[in-house]
Amino acid sequence: MFENYTEILKNLEEAAHLRKIQDFTAKDEKYIYIAGKRLLNLSSNNYLGFADNRRVTEQFLQTAGAKYSFGSASARLLTGTLPVYKELESLICELFQTEGTLLFNSGYHANVGVNSSLAQKGDVIFSDKLNHASIIDGMQLSQGKFFRYPHNDMEALEKLLKRERNNFRDAVIVSESVFSMDGDIADIEKLVELKNRYSCMLVLDEAHAFGVFGKKGLGVCETLGLIEQIDLIVGTFGKAIGSVGAFATGKKVLIDYLINKARSFIFSTSLPPVNIAFSKWIIENELPKTYLKRQKMLELGKKFNSQSHIVPVIIGENDKTVEMCDILYQNGYFTLPIRPPTVPVGTSRIRISLTTEIEEKDMDKLLEILKCNITG
Ligand SMILES: Cc1ncc(COP(=O)(O)O)c(C=O)c1O
Repeated sequence: MFENYTEILKNLEEAAHLRKIQDFTAKDEKYIYIAGKRLLNLSSNNYLGFADNRRVTEQFLQTAGAKYSFGSASARLLTGTLPVYKELESLICELFQTEGTLLFNSGYHANVGVNSSLAQKGDVIFSDKLNHASIIDGMQLSQGKFFRYPHNDMEALEKLLKRERNNFRDAVIVSESVFSMDGDIADIEKLVELKNRYSCMLVLDEAHAFGVFGKKGLGVCETLGLIEQIDLIVGTFGKAIGSVGAFATGKKVLIDYLINKARSFIFSTSLPPVNIAFSKWIIENELPKTYLKRQKMLELGKKFNSQSHIVPVIIGENDKTVEMCDILYQNGYFTLPIRPPTVPVGTSRIRISLTTEIEEKDMDKLLEILKCNITG
């Protein structure tokens, strides 16, 4: 009965594709510990060092966090809500100057909820080819049709819009701002121009940019002064904020619609109040102190030729990528091989994510190793 699965796993192993959960013993803001070894953690989304941070955790639990419980026991629309949930939603509205915000349990829930519900039968979604799996899964659940345009190719998107837009009623363009696996940034100005010209909604996933870009840390749209041009912005609390959860923020009508139609919101127990309070506390108390550190991190990214704090080192084949991670491991760096289907076939890579804790000198040996092993 299970032969089929065994065969699939064997094939994955042979292709160096098999995923395994690691045996870490501990983590802090900068390092990860495995088998008695301390490694510089270059694989985390803990961009500002707030997760696994003893000072921050203790301070929160002894002050604002002390009164919150660890379970909500219901979905938001049942009894799984308290003032702190609405306070966090109001805070996001205030920061973004948007009409409405809805919390989701994760970025995955948010993207599945938004992308499955916005386009109905007769509607269409245009999605960047490298958009995150959660966006793709959402579109696949949608009653609408979807097209994927080549990554960041605005000419291709316009061609598609010219050819297809009028065949549908409502249309959505969806893109990440900072792309999770490539670290490059969407041409948001052009996306805004196209969404206006072809009467589409624009949904932007700022998962990797929220907490990192912009004076207030709101994302790339803040840096560009384009927040009000975006119909719906998705942000996550599980990455730079060091917490868990996500939000969609934008027009009130869209938020009211999501409350009624986004199944990943409606049919799931809401996050524990303590997590909601932690996200709020970090955004209010810690995020405003990070601007200079964030700028320094982005400067370091530039030195690695990246537009962001995410630096892809593309190796190509799976086995060579795994080998390179092993070499880095032996030298005190924790990196992970990123392979298909997460990235396109032939572009297996090491995805280095910088954090504000990582200094330029931490990366010297890594650069040497990469130079010797990649360029021969
Ligand atoms: C672009 C993007 N959107 C959404 C998500 C999902 O967010 P979460 O981890 O909060 O589910 C990720 C996670 O890696 C992501 O990279």
